[in-house]
Amino acid sequence: ARTEVCIIGAGPAGLLLGHSLRSAGIDCIVLERRDPAHVLSRIRAGVLERITVDLMERLGLDARLKAEGLRHDGFNLADGERLIRIDLEALVGGHVVVYGQTELTRDLMEASAARGLEVRYDCADVALFDIEGTTPYVTYRKDGRAHRVDARFIVGCDGFHGPSRQAIPAADGQVFARSYPFGWLGILADVPPCNEELIYAAHERGFALASMRSAARSRYYIDVPITETLEGWPDERLWDELSLRLGPLAGSRMTRGAAIEKSIAPLRSFVFEPMRYGSLLLCGDAAHIVPPTGAKGLNLAASDVHYAADALTRFFRQADNDAVADYSAKALRRVWKSERFSWALTRLMHKFPEDGPFERAMQAAELDYIASSRAAQISIAENYVGLPV
Ligand code: FAD
Ligand code: DHB
Repeated sequence: ARTEVCIIGAGPAGLLLGHSLRSAGIDCIVLERRDPAHVLSRIRAGVLERITVDLMERLGLDARLKAEGLRHDGFNLADGERLIRIDLEALVGGHVVVYGQTELTRDLMEASAARGLEVRYDCADVALFDIEGTTPYVTYRKDGRAHRVDARFIVGCDGFHGPSRQAIPAADGQVFARSYPFGWLGILADVPPCNEELIYAAHERGFALASMRSAARSRYYIDVPITETLEGWPDERLWDELSLRLGPLAGSRMTRGAAIEKSIAPLRSFVFEPMRYGSLLLCGDAAHIVPPTGAKGLNLAASDVHYAADALTRFFRQADNDAVADYSAKALRRVWKSERFSWALTRLMHKFPEDGPFERAMQAAELDYIASSRAAQISIAENYVGLPV
C-alpha cells in the first residue's frame, strides 16, 4: 500500500494524530500490534488538560467526553495532617477534566471507520526502512502474510518499547533518563470516590493518590518499592495501606470494593532527542516518559500530536518543508517543562530511600511553603492545567 503518512501504534497518540490528519484531508494508515480489546484493556491516565480536551473538540469527537467527563476546578496535596487545596480556577482560571484514557481511546477507535481512518490491528514484526530519506517504508506480518506500506512520512506513536525510536541510529540521538526506586500500585474499583477532587498525599508511610473515573468508580494508587509484586498486595492489604496514607481526612471516607484492575507501573523519566530523524517523527511515549505524579503522560502525547499534525498539514497543504524541520525543537520545549514538573512533584511527594532527615525536612518545608504562598500555588496550578502550546 502507499499513503502519505504511516502511523505506528494505535494508542492515544496514534489515533489522535490519525484523526487530525484525516480531518485535514491527509492520507494515513495506522498499524497496531495488538487487537482492539487489548488496547482498551490498559487502564492508565485519568486527567485531561485543556490541550487534550480541545483536540477532541476540534475533531468533533467530544460528545461523550463532554457528557461524562468530570470538570475539576481544583485538586489537593496532603501532608499527613492537612489538605492543601490548589484552586485551579481561582489561581489561573483553568481546570482539568477527569476522563479515562481508555474512554478517550474508545471514542477515537469507534469513530475511525466513519472518518475514513484506516487502522490495521494485529500487525506483527513492524519494521521501519529508509527513514533517513524521502521514501521511507514499513513492513509487517498479518494473517501469515508479509505486507509493506510506502509513505512520505512515518510517525512513531508506538510507546516506550516500540520499534520507531530504535530505528534511529544511536549516534544520531541522545537519551536523558532517570529511574526511580518505586512503582505505583493502582487499583480500580466500582465504589464512590472518597473526595470530590483528587488528593496527592505525602505520608510518613509513603505516597498515595485518590482519583476517580466517575461518581461510582474510584482509582487509587500507592507507591511501593520496585521489587514488590501484585501477589504481595491482596485487596485488603492495599485498602488498609491507602486508608493510613490518605489520613483521617480522606481515608475515613474511603469505600472499599472488589478490584476491577490492579497493576504496578514503574516510575521513570526519559527523553529522547531529537523527536524527528529524516522522515520519521516521534510522538508520545515513543519519545518520552514522565513519572505519573502530575498526570502529564497522556497530555504530552496530545501536545506532540498538535505540533506534528500542524507540521504535516503545512508540509502537504502548503509545501512548507521547514514545518517538519521545526517539529522536534517545538515539541521538546514543552516536553522538557512537563518533565521538570513531573519530576519536581514526584520529588516532593515521595520518600526516596537515599533521603536523610535534612531532605525530609526540605519536603515538609516546601509543602508548608506551598500551603501558605499564593505564588507557589500559582506555579503548581499553571503547570497542572497544562502550559500553553
Ligand atoms: P501508548 O499508550 O503506549 O500506545 C502505544 C501503542 O503502540 C500501543 O497501542 C501499542 O500496542 C502500540 N505498539 C507498541 N509496539 C508496537 C509495534 N511494534 N508495532 C505496532 N504497534 C505497537 N499517565 C498518566 O498521566 N497517568 C497515569 O496514571 C498513567 N499510568 C500509566 C500506567 C502505565 C502502566 C503506563 C505504561 C503508562 C501510564 N501513563 C500514565 C502514561 C500514559 O498512559 C501514556 O503517556 C500514554 O499512554 C501515551 O500514549 P501513547 O499513544 O504515546 O503510547
Ligand atoms: C490519575 C493518574 C495520575 O498519574 C494522576 O496524576 C492523577 C490521576 C488517574 O489514573 O486517575
